[in-house]
Amino acid sequence: MDKIVIVGGRKLQGEVRISGAKNAALPVLVSSLLVDGWNTFHNIPDLLDIKTIRKLLNGLGVKIEGKETVRINAGGLTGCEASYDLVRTMRASILVLGPLVARMGEARVSLPGGCAIGARPVNLHIQALRDLGAEVTLRDGYVEAKASRLKGATIYFDITTVTGTENIMMAATLAKGQTILKNAAREPEIVNLAEVLIGMGARICGAGTDVIVIDGVESLHPVEAAVIPDRIEAGTFLLAAGMTGGDIRVLGCDPLHIEALIAKLRDAGVRIELDGEAVRAAGGVTARSVDVKTLPYPGFPTDLQAQIMAMMAIANGLSVITETVFENRFMHVSEMMRMGADIVIQGKSAIVRGVPKLHGAPVMATDLRASASLILAGLAAEGTTTLSRVYHIDRGYQQIEKKLSALGADIRRVSG
Ligand code: UD1
Repeated sequence: MDKIVIVGGRKLQGEVRISGAKNAALPVLVSSLLVDGWNTFHNIPDLLDIKTIRKLLNGLGVKIEGKETVRINAGGLTGCEASYDLVRTMRASILVLGPLVARMGEARVSLPGGCAIGARPVNLHIQALRDLGAEVTLRDGYVEAKASRLKGATIYFDITTVTGTENIMMAATLAKGQTILKNAAREPEIVNLAEVLIGMGARICGAGTDVIVIDGVESLHPVEAAVIPDRIEAGTFLLAAGMTGGDIRVLGCDPLHIEALIAKLRDAGVRIELDGEAVRAAGGVTARSVDVKTLPYPGFPTDLQAQIMAMMAIANGLSVITETVFENRFMHVSEMMRMGADIVIQGKSAIVRGVPKLHGAPVMATDLRASASLILAGLAAEGTTTLSRVYHIDRGYQQIEKKLSALGADIRRVSG
């Protein structure tokens, strides 16, 4: 299995272009299930998770061509089942549930099960589909849903759920009557998906707020649209500049999507300049410790929690990092401690006492964002860090080692 080897201590400098957002591309590709005909989607990132969703859609009879610009046609749907083999490798596969029921009248999708960062149930997706009139049963580890036509309803999400909101927003586009989603997630990826659906002829308003109103239509038509830039990838590079005392211009991102991180970086003493679709981050002095609490958007993203912890591990002072979105998202802590970090976990919080230096070590990735945090730690550490289980990083960062080495990092991928 591949490993990533990093010799730390280089200041990263230069420009890096951000790829399309994984978490937007997945639902956007899935939205093609609602339409008969060729859709065209631009700015699709080249990632393992995208390969997984393509495989899943292919298995349903969807035709897909191209890579960064993808043409996709669900005119000849032949199946309505997402198997355990695919769903267990990528939980976001559950996104096909709503669109399949809406278009085919039935769906059979494996329950995802637990994952490294927590139990992550899909009960809210299921309840909302029931609210739309689907008959849903759980059998042999699968969710089986049926509805001759979904009916609009008012749905209240107990917890804001990103893929739950996306799943039900897609399903409701073809329902009879009006659906109102309350306590909906407000992530930019939801706005991106809503814009794609509106381009297909869906009637949606309120995406980006916590109340989304969808007036069902009889059918949708193909669309040409683009996926937004990946705010988590952008944030990771800004942190890399801050942590290595470097100076990086992150190109092709939307600064509005990373305001929570930018505020924290500024508090920590990283110089930030905004220039249209570019953000420049310059570190120099040792960062000051800041406290961080993860929250649904527009709060600080849980998907950047591990990465900012890497920065706090070498900051000046004590930082309290509180994870409120997932119950078990501190798997990176023990690996960072192997590199010399001083971190204590107390319930939902990690107390991070900054140390002057981290030291390279062999470390193991446990999930996608944990991998990114260990790469950041390795870039700033003294000596060599070897990261194993690289497939996690390949799920969500396009060619991260190539982008980092173009910025001057000593990083390479080795096989075996
Ligand atoms: C999405 C993102 C993921 C990000 C997360 C939170 C995608 C593909 N993935 O994941 O990168 O970390 O949002 O920003 O977009 N919950 C329930 N029942 C449900 C659904 C969710 O209890 O039916 C809970 C979860 O366990 C979690 C919280 O709600 O504690 C938020 O999860 P959710 O927003 O659904 O995360 P995902 O959509 O899976």
